[in-house]
Amino acid sequence: MADIFKSQKDSKLKYMFRKISSLLFVVFLFGALNVLAQTDSSKKSCADASCHGNLVANEVVHDAIKRGCEKCHQSNGQEHPSKGEKNFTLTKQVPQLCYSCHDENNTMSHVHPPVAKGACLECHTPHSSPESNLLKKYPTAQVCYQCHKLESAQKKYKHAPVEKGDCAKCHDPHQSEINKFLIKEPPALCLKCHDKQNEQMSMAHVHPPFQNNCLNCHNQHSSNEPKLLDMTSPNLCLYCHEDMQKKIEKATTVHGALTDTRSCLNCHSPHASPQNKFLLAEPKELCLSCHNKSISVGTRKLANIEQTLKKSKSVHGAIEKNGCTGCHDPHASSNPSLLLKAMPTGSYAPANKENFGLCFTCHKSEIIEKQTTSSITNFRNGEKNLHFVHVNGDKGRSCKICHNPHGSPNDHLINDTAPFGSWEMPLKYKVLENGGSCAPGCHTERKYERVIAK
Ligand code: HEC
Ligand code: HEC
Ligand code: HEC
Ligand code: HEC
Ligand code: HEC
Ligand code: HEC
Ligand code: HEC
Ligand code: HEC
Ligand code: HEC
Ligand code: HEC
Ligand code: HEC
Ligand code: HEC
Ligand code: HEC
Repeated sequence: MADIFKSQKDSKLKYMFRKISSLLFVVFLFGALNVLAQTDSSKKSCADASCHGNLVANEVVHDAIKRGCEKCHQSNGQEHPSKGEKNFTLTKQVPQLCYSCHDENNTMSHVHPPVAKGACLECHTPHSSPESNLLKKYPTAQVCYQCHKLESAQKKYKHAPVEKGDCAKCHDPHQSEINKFLIKEPPALCLKCHDKQNEQMSMAHVHPPFQNNCLNCHNQHSSNEPKLLDMTSPNLCLYCHEDMQKKIEKATTVHGALTDTRSCLNCHSPHASPQNKFLLAEPKELCLSCHNKSISVGTRKLANIEQTLKKSKSVHGAIEKNGCTGCHDPHASSNPSLLLKAMPTGSYAPANKENFGLCFTCHKSEIIEKQTTSSITNFRNGEKNLHFVHVNGDKGRSCKICHNPHGSPNDHLINDTAPFGSWEMPLKYKVLENGGSCAPGCHTERKYERVIAK
């Protein structure tokens, strides 16, 4: 309780102090002006409370007034006050009157029409005002709204300085060398308040429209979309990235990461990033930030890839070298599992290199084409190519029956089990000197031993 009283008392004291100091100023004026400006017969000061005291009663009094009313007003010699008659004229017409003390503010390439017309008093009051800059209304926006009906500032989400009515934080009310009387050209205009974006400007990878002009995506005053955006993602992005739009339209599968509300912003910064392509994180980490759990898609349950990799004895060299995008398209694809090239969805497919096109973007297709070899694959018995044996004819076994494309707890990416009908058949793969063995449910333990080329 005591605290509340204290703070109330504090602000009351401050209030009293302000009142007293403005009162003192009026008293000071009263004295000064008595000497300076006694054209009236009653010998009262012009700023006397019973006369024009109200003109100087506001918090901020025009400094010009300290120099006397007659700096601006001159008597026409008539008795003052005299009812219904004007006894004073201005020493000069506005704006020349103002320019006799202030620099001319109509000299630049873009002059605001009311300033060009010399209509200072459309916005200013000559005597005193409750806040600085001697405006007729506060906040500043109220002055502007006298003439501008600004639809672009009336939408759902308002930019903080617009909400506060601080139009002059961005516009010079008088003149500018820049279009729309801006104080600076965007993006510099925006960066003077937005430090974080200022730092982003010097990152290794900067999105060209960000560098060019913030207004490519944001509205300066207000918007019906959050973050003052013209549109939400993905439309915002696809508006310029037409190729991506076409790709998505053509594809049979669009990545789930693109279809939620954040869409492109799940992976890309719209501004800049230390990563190539403005990615939000190192590419592999980015993928694993979502694929660190099993994800349900309709009746399918997608594997937890991070867990697969953690449990692996060896991770596929493709992932170690190129992350995930050596095989997957991060956006959309007409191949299953967003793959860049063809791969059979089931366990079997006719044995030709097109059907396994994905693997053969990096590996040699001879491993399924040559019946005998002493070099092209280690999966051979003597010189008999066992890849050729297994991936053969119309019902060639798919690579993924034996290999996990991501990683496995065994050597050579060999799976623990292979699907056989509805049965997950254990492979029990072992590495032997110059070969290996497996003891799957479909045949007894078999070994292969390479003949080493001399
Ligand atoms: C910086 C110049 C300036 C000074 C100094 C100044 N005035 Fe004014 N005054 C004006 C202008 C400009 C007008 C508006 C004239 C018009 O609207 O045509 C005005 C108008 C007036 C009016 C007409 C009523 C009104 O509210 O607009 C009165 C009364 C007046 N001034 C009194 C004073 C008194 C008293 C002082 C000294 C305490 C004073 N002025 C000092 C510039 C000044
Ligand atoms: C006799 C000289 C004189 C005349 C005439 C004069 N001013 Fe001023 N004005 C000053 C001085 C001195 C200041 C305070 C220093 C400064 O800000 O430049 C000032 C300050 C101002 C300010 C800023 C107030 C603030 O809160 O910072 C505005 C706005 C202004 N004048 C407008 C006008 C307008 C409009 C006219 C014409 C109607 C005018 N002045 C005529 C001397 C004058
Ligand atoms: C369209 C409205 C408008 C008109 C017309 C206008 N002003 Fe201003 N003026 C402002 C606003 C708003 C500010 C405060 C700017 C800020 O907050 O930085 C200001 C500030 C000022 C200042 C103080 C700051 C500075 O720029 O030095 C002076 C002096 C001034 N005006 C003089 C004039 C004179 C003289 C005229 C007429 C030739 C005039 N103004 C016409 C709106 C106007
Ligand atoms: C006395 C009337 C009046 C006041 C008050 C006024 N303006 Fe203006 N302003 C105009 C006129 C007239 C134009 C030129 C016609 C137009 O483009 O709307 C203009 C043009 C502009 C433009 C350029 C518009 C364009 O599309 O090129 C901007 C920006 C602007 N004003 C900002 C302001 C701001 C900020 C304020 C308040 C500090 C303000 N105006 C107060 C009359 C006014
Ligand atoms: C954050 C900076 C900023 C603030 C604050 C701001 N503006 Fe603007 N305003 C701009 C920019 C930038 C443009 C130019 C847009 C363009 O080039 O298309 C503009 C354009 C305008 C225009 C002309 C086009 C239009 O959008 O209608 C007017 C009039 C205008 N502003 C008035 C105002 C008024 C009035 C306020 C205060 C309520 C205000 N502005 C506050 C940055 C700002
Ligand atoms: C006078 C300072 C100032 C200027 C100049 C300025 N802003 Fe802001 N802006 C702010 C403040 C304050 C906020 C609210 C706090 C925050 O989110 O940082 C804000 C918020 C924003 C937001 C986020 C809105 C939200 O809903 O979170 C965007 C986007 C933005 N500004 C863009 C711009 C652009 C574009 C420009 C240049 C045309 C600009 N700003 C110029 C002060 C400014
Ligand atoms: C290519 C479009 C684009 C451009 C150009 C752009 N922005 Fe953004 N900006 C966005 C998007 C999209 C968001 C929302 C990001 C989010 O939600 O993660 C955003 C968010 C913001 C925010 C809110 C900050 C936050 O972290 O939430 C600010 C402030 C901002 N932008 C300022 C700027 C400034 C300043 C510029 C110019 C230097 C600029 N923007 C240029 C698209 C853009
Ligand atoms: C105003 C147009 C515009 C908008 C809006 C836009 N971009 Fe861009 N973007 C460009 C331009 C121009 C380039 C550089 C040329 C290019 O590589 O296509 C670019 C480049 C890129 C690149 C790098 C392309 C490459 O091959 O290196 C990515 C990634 C990107 N933008 C993502 C986005 C995302 C995400 C969004 C939405 C938040 C977006 N862009 C919105 C114009 C835009
Ligand atoms: C799941 C994360 C992710 C999402 C969501 C995402 N991207 Fe990408 N994007 C990437 C990655 C990773 C790359 C880099 C691919 C590479 O290096 O081969 C990339 C590259 C790009 C490129 C460069 C050209 C290309 O095709 O490689 C553009 C343009 C682009 N993205 C735009 C977008 C747009 C627009 C959206 C939203 C519709 C979006 N991205 C959504 C991860 C994503
Ligand atoms: C923001 C979360 C998120 C990020 C980041 C993400 N994904 Fe996904 N991903 C999903 C979701 C949700 C699904 C399941 C929905 C769908 O695609 O049908 C999915 C599905 C997939 C699928 C299976 C598609 C299918 O239909 O079988 C692959 C492959 C995939 N993502 C790869 C990647 C790669 C590669 C990256 C990194 C470039 C990545 N994801 C980043 C959320 C994400
Ligand atoms: C060497 C190529 C290759 C690389 C590199 C690769 N993948 Fe895959 N990925 C595949 C293949 C092939 C499939 C389809 C497996 C299947 O049909 O069972 C697949 C399937 C997926 C699926 C769907 C799993 C499911 O249960 O249907 C996800 C999610 C996925 N990958 C994510 C990733 C992520 C994340 C990375 C990077 C850490 C990555 N992939 C790297 C080839 C690759
Ligand atoms: C983006 C290139 C790329 C693609 C596509 C690719 N791989 Fe690989 N693969 C590698 C790299 C790199 C290695 C590491 C050894 C090397 O340098 O040859 C490797 C190694 C392997 C190994 C040997 C592992 C070991 O420990 O001996 C197997 C098995 C393998 N890949 C199977 C596949 C299968 C099956 C596919 C198709 C689903 C495939 N790869 C697609 C790049 C790729
Ligand atoms: C019947 C199981 C099986 C099938 C099906 C299979 N592989 Fe293999 N693969 C192996 C074994 C076992 C090894 C390990 C050989 C060794 O080093 O002893 C191997 C090794 C590899 C290697 C390492 C280099 C080499 O050839 O020794 C690559 C690459 C490879 N396989 C790719 C593939 C591709 C691509 C497919 C599908 C077109 C495929 N494999 C199908 C069992 C299989």
